[in-house]
Amino acid sequence: MAKSIISVSDLNKQEIFDMINLAGILKKDKNLYGDALSKKIFLLLFEKQSTRTRVSFESAIKQMNGKTIFLGRNESQLSRNERIEDMARVLDKYVDCVIARVYKHDDLLKFKNFADIPIINALSDLEHPVQILSDLFTMFEIKKNFDFKLTYVGDCNNVTNSLILASKIMGFEISLASPKKYEGEYIKNLNKTGIKNVVFENITDAVKDADFIYTDVWTSMGQEVKEDENERLKTFEKFRITKKLLNFAKKDVRIMHCMPIHYGMEIEEDVANSGHSIIFAQAENKIYMEKAVLAKIWDF
Ligand code: CP
Ligand code: NVA
Repeated sequence: MAKSIISVSDLNKQEIFDMINLAGILKKDKNLYGDALSKKIFLLLFEKQSTRTRVSFESAIKQMNGKTIFLGRNESQLSRNERIEDMARVLDKYVDCVIARVYKHDDLLKFKNFADIPIINALSDLEHPVQILSDLFTMFEIKKNFDFKLTYVGDCNNVTNSLILASKIMGFEISLASPKKYEGEYIKNLNKTGIKNVVFENITDAVKDADFIYTDVWTSMGQEVKEDENERLKTFEKFRITKKLLNFAKKDVRIMHCMPIHYGMEIEEDVANSGHSIIFAQAENKIYMEKAVLAKIWDF
């Protein structure tokens, strides 16, 4: 088992299946591993805002009898440009694990190289691996396999990147509907990942026969450019999940969103709160998957 999880690709298919199985067991028995993290201290180092990831991780750790320290960007020397390498070499003497949400993915890699403890990516500009592990659990709960098609609609971002990596590992089909103008680094390098011909500018072509349609915010944290805002919103108008769009997917298509939702932008309110939506199940499942990840890191 890889000790750090910086990318979905740090895990193999078997390890992901093991985590999904364990998350299912932990969902049924909320007291399981109730003392597993006693004597372990976790640093939650968050450069960006968070509601779900921060609270679910803190709660997961406390339910397993571990301790947490929260450090935001402004309270730490990060905001005064301390080198991440120097922080890593010191902090690994104080805590047993760092769960970090950062602007630059590269900072996580540097942290990992200079620290002797597990580092968990709680979102970076390039990936959101634990979110996607938990989403794999949610989809597996419904389908009981990975023989399905998922269409991601909207801005190709950290969530999309982790979904693409997960599709390669778990074997599900993926298509993307996204404006070419804003395509992200991973999408530009799709050929290198071995995934071809999956990006559509035509949203209805992309969602054809989809079992799951996934969307996320049009502007991720750290992507905000004031001068470009109006142009960006105009470009993304065509990439909204609407009730009409569902007609092009499978009849029982499920709608996903990692949250926070911007109603009326990337998704219509009627759709987000319809019977097709599994958005709140996704959010709930984060805590069970996070507990499974923590248990697997130390091979409990
Ligand atoms: N899905 C997710 O990561 O939400 P938060 O930004 O609230 O943590
Ligand atoms: N792509 C979004 C995800 C938020 C959970 C962002 O990075 O802001």
